[in-house]
Amino acid sequence: MSEKNKCATLVQTQYTNAFGSPELMVKSPGRINLIGEHTDYNLGFVLPAAIDKAIYIAIGKRTDQNICLHAADLDQSIEMSLDSLEPSPKQWPNYLLGIADQLKKAGYPISGFNAVVAGDVPLGAGLSSSAAVECATVFALNELFVLGMSKLEMVRMAQKAENEFVGLKCGIMDMFASMFGKADAVIQLDCRSLDYHYMPFHQKGFQIVLLDTCVKHSLASTEYNTRRAECEAGVAIIAQQHPQVKSLRDADLGMVESLLAGGDVKVYQRCKFIVAEIARLQAGCQDLVNDNIDAFGLKMFETHIGLSKEYEVSCVELDFLADFAKDQNGVIGARMMGGGFGGCTINLVKDASVDTFITGAATAFKNRFQQDLKSYIVAIGDGTSLINF
Ligand code: GLA
Repeated sequence: MSEKNKCATLVQTQYTNAFGSPELMVKSPGRINLIGEHTDYNLGFVLPAAIDKAIYIAIGKRTDQNICLHAADLDQSIEMSLDSLEPSPKQWPNYLLGIADQLKKAGYPISGFNAVVAGDVPLGAGLSSSAAVECATVFALNELFVLGMSKLEMVRMAQKAENEFVGLKCGIMDMFASMFGKADAVIQLDCRSLDYHYMPFHQKGFQIVLLDTCVKHSLASTEYNTRRAECEAGVAIIAQQHPQVKSLRDADLGMVESLLAGGDVKVYQRCKFIVAEIARLQAGCQDLVNDNIDAFGLKMFETHIGLSKEYEVSCVELDFLADFAKDQNGVIGARMMGGGFGGCTINLVKDASVDTFITGAATAFKNRFQQDLKSYIVAIGDGTSLINF
C-alpha cells in the first residue's frame, strides 16, 4: 500500500474505532521552497511548491461543544471545550485548536467536533508539517460546517492561528503553498499583493532530493521572531529617510548600505541578505523561464551562503551538507531550506547522480557527526483537498 493510502486508511480506521464513521476526510501537503527564504514576512517573493507528502485528517461533528483530537502517529489524545480554548503543553493539538480559536473569534458558527490526524510529512524537518495540519483543519472545518470560506481566507486564518495561538510570527508562505499547491508547478507568490502564478517546473533529468539532518529546529523559540524584529528595526531606520519604505520589499541595496552599514551590525546583515534574496529570486525565476536550471542552481548556493553568514539561521550540520553538495558531480544547486536551525537541505541533482549523491552524503554525514542522515526524493503535488473514501 502506498504511504498516502496507509495514512488515509489509518485516520479513517482510528476515527471509526473511536467515534463511528467520519463525515469527511482531507489531506494537505507539506512544502518545499526552491528559493526566497525569510522573504515572506518581509513582503517579498517566494517560490514554494506542495509535495507528495501530506497530513491527513478524518473529522465529524459532535453534539456538544467539545473538541476531541487524536494524533494517530503519536498515539496521543486531547479533549478541550470550544468555550475554553487554550494552548496545550503538547505542541501538536495547538495547530488544530488554533484554527478553532480563529474561527470562533471570526464569528463562524462551529460547534464541537472529533478529529484524527496522521501523516507522512517528516516532523521538524522544515517541510511545514504544522502548516499542513492547520490547512487540513481549516479546510475540513470549512466543509464540515459549510462556512463558505475562500482558499485565501483559509490560508490567512491558518497563518493567524500560527501567529497568535502557536506564537510563531511566521509569514504566509507555508500555508499558501500547502493550500494552493499544484502538481508540476512552483508558485511564484508576491507576499505583498498575494498575486501569484504557477510556473511550470519540469524536472527534465533531475530530481529534488532533501537531506534531513534530523536536527530539530526550534522555530517557535526566539530566533525566528528575533530575525523578524531585526528586519523591522532596519525598515524603521530606512523609513526615516524614505517614508515610502514600509517593508524590506520596498528597500534597495543602496538604502541598506547608506543607512544601515554604520549601525547595528546584525540589523545591517539581516537587511542586506533579504534585499539581495528578493532580487535573487526574481532573477532565478527568469532563469526558469529561460530553461536555465544551471544558473538557477548557482543562485541556490548563493542563498545558502547568505542564510548561513548574514542571516545566521543555519547550523553546522546544514552547512556541512551544503558544502558537501557543492563538490559533488551532478548537483545543480543546494541550500538549507525553510526557517533554519536544523531540518533539511534541498538539492537539485541530475538523475544519474542521485544514488551516489545520497549514499555519499550519508557516509560523509555519519563520519562527521556520527548520526544517520535521512533523505527523501520528493515530487511536486497538488494542494489541500477532500479525500474520497
Ligand atoms: C518558516 C516560516 C515561513 C518562512 C520560512 C522561511 O517556514 O513558517 O513563513 O518565513 O520559515 O522562508
